[in-house]
Amino acid sequence: MYNKRTIIPGLAIFVLFVTFPLWFNAFSTASTVPKTELPPGGEKQCVASASEMRASHMALLNEWRDEVLRDGGRIAVTVNGKEYRKGLQMACMQCHTNKEKFCDSCHEYVSVTPYCWDCHLTPTAAAEKKETH
Ligand code: HEC
Ligand code: HEC
Ligand code: HEC
Repeated sequence: MYNKRTIIPGLAIFVLFVTFPLWFNAFSTASTVPKTELPPGGEKQCVASASEMRASHMALLNEWRDEVLRDGGRIAVTVNGKEYRKGLQMACMQCHTNKEKFCDSCHEYVSVTPYCWDCHLTPTAAAEKKETH
């Protein structure tokens, strides 16, 4: 024996409850990675595909650093016919000129603070140095 009047609304509430993560994700922005801006210089390609870059730019930077230190900075990478010397400032920041808007927007979102900028200059810091010296 059961009561149709309570079981149908009960079922509806149950279904809503169980599927909550699905529609909550679809309608909220809580789980979306920030939309990054494309390089202001108009470049269309990165040194690897965007998905590879998203997944492993940290490893790539470490690789580059080791290669540069081992081989004395003579290695270049070619993107869309243009050559960049491997390096944080000499490649990445040539295109991603706004560290605050590009790198930081993601890093703040995932709460990582790479310590690289203790030594390496951001384009903003480099420009300030040029002005004062
Ligand atoms: C204690 C200071 C210091 C810190 C912190 C540091 N670096 Fe460096 N890094 C250097 C120095 C010095 C060089 C050598 C520069 C050269 O020979 O042109 C270098 C070179 C590099 C290079 C190759 C050349 C270039 O100019 O970019 C890469 C890539 C690099 N570092 C990445 C990183 C990354 C990524 C981080 C953070 C995870 C980091 N570094 C943190 C000091 C530092
Ligand atoms: C020649 C210009 C250029 C250089 C050099 C470059 N990038 Fe990029 N980068 C781009 C462009 C353009 C995109 C967007 C590509 C796309 O959407 O297909 C991008 C995408 C990315 C993304 C993914 C962003 C997202 O929203 O998913 C990351 C992370 C990234 N780059 C980091 C780096 C790092 C770190 C370096 C240095 C090792 C670097 N880039 C060097 C032009 C460059
Ligand atoms: C699309 C988002 C996104 C963009 C854009 C981005 N990063 Fe990251 N970055 C991440 C995430 C996520 C991590 C943490 C990865 C992990 O912990 O596995 C990270 C980690 C790092 C690390 C390692 C830090 C650590 O403490 O382990 C370095 C170095 C780094 N990013 C450099 C850069 C630089 C330089 C730029 C700008 C040129 C940049 N990233 C742009 C998402 C991004």
